[in-house]
Amino acid sequence: MLSSLKHAWGNLRLLMSARDNVLEAWTPKDFVREIVPVGCLGRWMFVINAPAGVQQVMVTNGKNYPKSPISRQTLKPLLGNGLFVSEGELWQRQRKISSPVGHANRLSAYADVVIREGQAMLADWQRREPGSELDVSEAFTVLTANVICQLMFSYRLGEKVHVLGEAFQEYSATHGRMHLAELLGLPDWLPRPGMLKGRRAVKKFDRVIHDIIAASRDANGDIPDNLIQMLVAYRDENGWPMPPSLIRDEVASIFLAGHETTALTVSWAFYLLELHPDVEQRLHTELDRVLCGRPPAFADMSALVFTRAIIDETLRLYPPVHVFSKQAVAADEICGQKIPAGSYITISSWVLHRHKLLWEDPDAFKPDRFLPENSDKIIPFSYIPFGAGSRVCLGKHLGLLESVLLLAMTAQSFRLRVREGFVVKPVGRMTLRPQGGLPMRITPRQPPAT
Ligand code: HEM
Repeated sequence: MLSSLKHAWGNLRLLMSARDNVLEAWTPKDFVREIVPVGCLGRWMFVINAPAGVQQVMVTNGKNYPKSPISRQTLKPLLGNGLFVSEGELWQRQRKISSPVGHANRLSAYADVVIREGQAMLADWQRREPGSELDVSEAFTVLTANVICQLMFSYRLGEKVHVLGEAFQEYSATHGRMHLAELLGLPDWLPRPGMLKGRRAVKKFDRVIHDIIAASRDANGDIPDNLIQMLVAYRDENGWPMPPSLIRDEVASIFLAGHETTALTVSWAFYLLELHPDVEQRLHTELDRVLCGRPPAFADMSALVFTRAIIDETLRLYPPVHVFSKQAVAADEICGQKIPAGSYITISSWVLHRHKLLWEDPDAFKPDRFLPENSDKIIPFSYIPFGAGSRVCLGKHLGLLESVLLLAMTAQSFRLRVREGFVVKPVGRMTLRPQGGLPMRITPRQPPAT
């Protein structure tokens, strides 16, 4: 009795430490086990690290595993019933309406905007003293926020980008954290700590979202038929339009899902490049050969093979969406493990992508794993930076395109080095971020004369 109480208390403490940094909940044993059962407060949680189990939860029996109350509660106050949070028929309808924004035929037009905005940021960097310092993760977040607003809503954010950034940070520190209430299965209406501050952050966020919606209805931007125009034009089978609150939720969801993830990918890539000068050298060689000193274009994507492999490997080691939390509707069995109905299922791409049974030298940064000639060595469902199954990332192609272009443009012109003495620590909350940002010195790089 005493030992099982101690065990439950240990598990509870572990789960609560995950509130601050989910990564701290993982122990070395998790990286060698296929399924980790964790009993806590009369409920089971199973961490699934077996690729066949990941496939079952996310694809083959995906219907049995909707998002858990933990992920719903952390996101719902901010994203309402937007695509990222909704389930069932509502989600199906929303996914269908928004799906054109993820189509490959838009990518070339998207690339033009990414390159134009990237060039503007780099021109600003060129005006700074060589060796000056900036928070690279913030700089890329501002850039990608501007890009997503232009691509999806034909809207230029300008200074409002900082209001949105602040609101999101405040939200992440309050409402956006896991609460004991969800683990206990308490109802949604019960107050949670930090709720008031979280609400204030949502209000701040909403003021800008409403400005975006008001301005975008009639806007003509670089991308014809922007998402807001598509949402406004939508009529259901009875001829009813989409309620304004749902349009708001959709815009908030696409804005949030569509920028920080990309910014983090590029930021982590620069951190890894500093640690691996040999990889950085190979990147420079490819960029100098393919681009010969000119800015990249959409047509260069297929030639930037090593640049793309660096992004893929960065997404393995530092997946911005690092955890998927689901709940089993009906009882099931995963890889021989009985799953009672109501159990929580956790799939952590942080663990899966560094799992000792699935990857050779899992903690090493080796972009070559992702070169086309090696792609068949990657075990299906061991690598899921964009999720999998019906809820796979809607903006996967855009996220990859943007990450490759921004890495190429920036590395072509600058070397980035972390501030001396600054310890880079990944923190897993709503996304996987460097704690305290990523202060780096930027120094112009001269490509060799041809
Ligand atoms: C490198 C960049 C990106 C990464 C790593 C990433 C990752 C992910 C992941 C893992 C999911 C699944 C979440 C879950 O199942 O709980 C997701 C969903 C989603 N992503 Fe991305 N994403 C990126 C870029 C983008 C971009 C640029 C957009 C803009 C359109 C976008 C829009 C979405 C949307 C709307 C969803 C929800 C899809 C649904 O539930 O049906 N993402 N993303």
